[in-house]
Amino acid sequence: MTERPVEALTQAEAREELARLAEALTAANVAYHTLDAPRISDAEYDALKVRNLAIEARFPTLKRADSPSEQVGGGLAEGFGKVAHSVRMLSLENAFADTEVREFDDRVRKYLGIPSSIAYTAEPKIDGLSLSLRYEDGVLVMAATRGDGEIGENVTENARTISDIPARLTGAPAVLEVRGEVHMAHSDFAALNDRQTATGERPFANPRNAAAGSLRQLDPAITARRPLRFFAYAWGAVSEPLATTQLDAIARLSVLGFRTNPLTVLCDGPDQMLAHYRAIEAQRATLGYDIDGVVYKVNALDLQARLGLRSTTPRWALAHKFPAELAWTRLEAIDIQVGRTGALSPVARLTPVTVGGVVVSNATLHNEDYIAGRDAKGLPIRGGKDIRVGDWVQVYRAGDVIPKIADVDLVRRPDGAQPFRFPEICPQCHSPALREEGDAVRRCSGGLICPAQAMERLKHFVSRGAFDIEGLGAKQIELFYNDPILPVKMPADIFTLAARDASNPLQKLKNRDGFGDRSVSNLFAAIEARRQIRLDRLIFALGIRHVGEVASGLLARHYGTWATFEAGVTNATPGSAEWDDLTAIDGVGTVLATSLVEAFQNPAERAAIDALVAHLTVEPVANRGPVDSPLAGKTVVFTGTLERMTRAEAKARAEALGAKVAGSVSAKTDLLVAGPGAGSKAKEAARLGVMTIDEDAWLALVGVA
Ligand code: IVH
Repeated sequence: MTERPVEALTQAEAREELARLAEALTAANVAYHTLDAPRISDAEYDALKVRNLAIEARFPTLKRADSPSEQVGGGLAEGFGKVAHSVRMLSLENAFADTEVREFDDRVRKYLGIPSSIAYTAEPKIDGLSLSLRYEDGVLVMAATRGDGEIGENVTENARTISDIPARLTGAPAVLEVRGEVHMAHSDFAALNDRQTATGERPFANPRNAAAGSLRQLDPAITARRPLRFFAYAWGAVSEPLATTQLDAIARLSVLGFRTNPLTVLCDGPDQMLAHYRAIEAQRATLGYDIDGVVYKVNALDLQARLGLRSTTPRWALAHKFPAELAWTRLEAIDIQVGRTGALSPVARLTPVTVGGVVVSNATLHNEDYIAGRDAKGLPIRGGKDIRVGDWVQVYRAGDVIPKIADVDLVRRPDGAQPFRFPEICPQCHSPALREEGDAVRRCSGGLICPAQAMERLKHFVSRGAFDIEGLGAKQIELFYNDPILPVKMPADIFTLAARDASNPLQKLKNRDGFGDRSVSNLFAAIEARRQIRLDRLIFALGIRHVGEVASGLLARHYGTWATFEAGVTNATPGSAEWDDLTAIDGVGTVLATSLVEAFQNPAERAAIDALVAHLTVEPVANRGPVDSPLAGKTVVFTGTLERMTRAEAKARAEALGAKVAGSVSAKTDLLVAGPGAGSKAKEAARLGVMTIDEDAWLALVGVA
């Protein structure tokens, strides 16, 4: 079922929905924090919270005494004290393909300016939960879970019951924080679950959940009876360096009495790293504990220090995960979401199923042809099997990307299941949803009158490469869009927020839940700072279809100023001198030009653009300079089926952005775009270490939404 817009809810419906949301969020919290068995994804959880907030903002009097907006989310279980980590506990950047490992090595060496090969450690990625152990003068004084990376839970008494964790160390630095993974061996897990079942208790879904549930017992006596194990693989605060290399540091931890992983080796560059990955993968089933990939770390600690950290991950490490896992489940419904450019995207709502340790309840269905079992050329995919509500479908996940559907089981298709009828009107604004010749995507024709498109446009407007307004992200846009007091329905409204708030003496933003004096003044200052914006960012921020970051840069460099750009595009009807000037830009084809010109000639779009620009000072962009396209001078090969663009269009686009398109993969190939059914070319590319991306990544690269 598609959610009703918050503005359309009656008071009675809002009350009912707030009750439903309170229940759903409480259940999700209990599943996540108390049972260690998450039932919905983080994104779904966030979506519920946002909707709850939006309804409360519109009906403040209906806010419940047990409102979920009053409860702290976070990763902390009740009952444990909180511990601030003296050195943040990081997570790792993920990779799946061999090419990504080579890119990681390239990136590291480029960053350091080292052309020759450098050494990395490679070791299993243990599928448990991380723990930080603080020793002072050789005595264990604190054990803390990761929590949100900054603040964790104090589980010291529980950690003391784990036999792999020494209570005392001899010869250790005065301060030493050892970090590693708490996990449970397969045999111990099976025995524990037998006991759970025998005593009428709920068995654990997998060893990881069992380990987490056992470590986070409020009664350490229970933890003591659970067979937990610990591998040390890193460290936090240390009063003196442990060693000069990663490998020696781990050896030192081993000497101090910690269990370290025997499959940790030193590799001289990506070939050896990939070879060790394959070796570990081959032993995976017989290790006796769960691993989900291989972690590579730059060996020299001085190089690690130079590489430093991004916001949550170190630049010097990479987690190379094992391939996607598969699971069968039932397709309960197909919902249609409406995106920024009006694209109607079908989403599969699934009976929740665990795929590779994560509960999946949604998957993408791409477009109507995909559901019908056809590709863009009308050729069969999945052997031509269509997807129907009620079907058993095979779901797969590769990393953090949206799960996809690989197959349908026709044998289990329920009697009477009907082929899915893709809507021909927009479910959000009821405008006709049209499919252009050669386009796999059906689009809502409502433009800015469609609330879904307007909201997605706003989210794009404030996003990273666009206006990038601190404190005004997608979540806040959803709140303001539906806000009865300070609505933001189009970009120009952002720049009147402060003035509108100032002229409303009764309901100040700073007095509202979730805001305060500081956050409101910071927000208004961040908006103020963006009144001055560079031309290319402004063009990109408008969110016009086909006008991605690369094209925006090309346009800005060609026209130089907003006035020239605006005049050029406004007058560019096909056949005019302005049209010729626009389409002569290297990298601007007729598809892009048409979309741009149409946007500027559409009265509603134009009014929104003019209203916005009235608030801005647009910085000009220098006219000359090299073509700044990620594809300039690159050789690209396409293989497999492209579902959303014909081969010809893909080729034209690549060429327009300065790339050469070749028919076969060789050492000269820079990029392979591989759709489903890719065969020998993909293998050859993998062998040669050629970067390979899928169609979604390709579309993002060339700026097609
Ligand atoms: S190193 C600064 N090594 O994976 C790097 N992490 O996905 C800190 N993990 O939060 C982590 N095995 O809980 C490292 N051999 C290993 C690991 C490992 C499992 C976990 C760890 C981390 C998560 C990131």
